[in-house]
Amino acid sequence: MKARIVTLPGDGVGPEVTAVAVAVLKAVAQRFEHTFQFDEQPIGGIAIDTHGEPLPPATLEACRGADAVLLGAVGGPKWSDPNAPVRPEQGLLALRAALGVYANLRPLQVHPALAALSPLKNEKLKHVDVLFVRELTGGAYFGAKTRTSDAATDECKYTVAEIERVARRAFELARGRRGHVTSVDKANVLETSRLWRNTVTRIAAEYPDVKLEHQLVDSMAMLLLTQPGRYDVVVTENLFGDILTDEAAALAGSLGLLPSASLGEGKAGLYEPIHGSAPDIAGQGVANPVGTLLSAALLLRHSLGLDDEAAAVEAAVEEVLREGPHTRDLGGDAGTAAVRDAVLHALAMQAHRSNVYVEGARVHG
Ligand code: NAD
Ligand code: IPM
Ligand code: MN
Repeated sequence: MKARIVTLPGDGVGPEVTAVAVAVLKAVAQRFEHTFQFDEQPIGGIAIDTHGEPLPPATLEACRGADAVLLGAVGGPKWSDPNAPVRPEQGLLALRAALGVYANLRPLQVHPALAALSPLKNEKLKHVDVLFVRELTGGAYFGAKTRTSDAATDECKYTVAEIERVARRAFELARGRRGHVTSVDKANVLETSRLWRNTVTRIAAEYPDVKLEHQLVDSMAMLLLTQPGRYDVVVTENLFGDILTDEAAALAGSLGLLPSASLGEGKAGLYEPIHGSAPDIAGQGVANPVGTLLSAALLLRHSLGLDDEAAAVEAAVEEVLREGPHTRDLGGDAGTAAVRDAVLHALAMQAHRSNVYVEGARVHG
């Protein structure tokens, strides 16, 4: 197949991890005989520096015309003055809104080889397989903001339609998994959360085969650590989802491991690791590329419909997590390039094994 993929490397470690994912996608294209056309565009701090705005119109236009968008990370100390007129993160938020990618899927699994890196005891990590569905284009992130010299406000607003569509997505996804949805809110305090709870409960009636439970966000933060194996699909609003998924990443062993897929109504999507620009390690060639590689796998599956190719990337990453090399965040001393080479090697070996198998089948009939 032919596909147009826009890459948005962004800031900090963003370009380092995006380059690895592009190298792996090129290897996939070659092995499976696809034509992937890559179009790199500026976003975030680098775009402020070169174009005066964090989401230049040409970047947005390219993303709108793409089959999928792969993003590294935006932001960093250079652009983090709280009084700055514009911030890199605004570019990412504007892009999510413009693409209408309201459902942010953030899968969490714990690789047995990395369980020792988790702050939790190993036995708690068995059977951890959670799919967070974070609402991505509403809530306090997008409400009206005010600021005077001695006060500030961020309006948190949700409409019924916004809650319905992300709830439906969560129930659909649960049907393909273990059939359980946990909806997380703060309905004991927030009006938006009471609307959220009512709406999710009403939508649940359309999915009688899926079990729904509600959980308040504060106790959910605790339960994620004490009973992580209990959860299947967790659906929640924008800000709660942001916070809970960084917490979830700690269970997996590193923030550098978790991927995400941001989806709207069509097939196109925005794919990015959940971590940020990691200014403390940027430029050193030590960033963990796994979250971005697994995001590229999600891109292959969700936007391009290439399930075998996605599984091939996931299997290659799995092999490298099992056997090493590992970056520093995983307790190893490998650089980003060594992990890239190991994943490319694992992919090549898969291809070799399947060719041997085909040849063997020919010989032996
Ligand atoms: P961060 O995710 O950038 O870093 C938190 C910690 O995790 C750091 O110690 C970092 O070194 C480590 N880490 C993150 N990714 C890693 C990787 N791939 N490999 C190894 N270690 C990794 O969070 P922060 O420091 O709070 O934010 C820094 C900047 O990134 C801020 O400007 C923030 O707004 C931005 N940010 C952007 C995105 C995004 O573009 N999607 C996401 C989160 C944060
Ligand atoms: C994420 C990030 C972003 C968010 C920031 C950079 C706007 O933390 O993707 O998780 O809060 O959504
Ligand atoms: Mn975040």
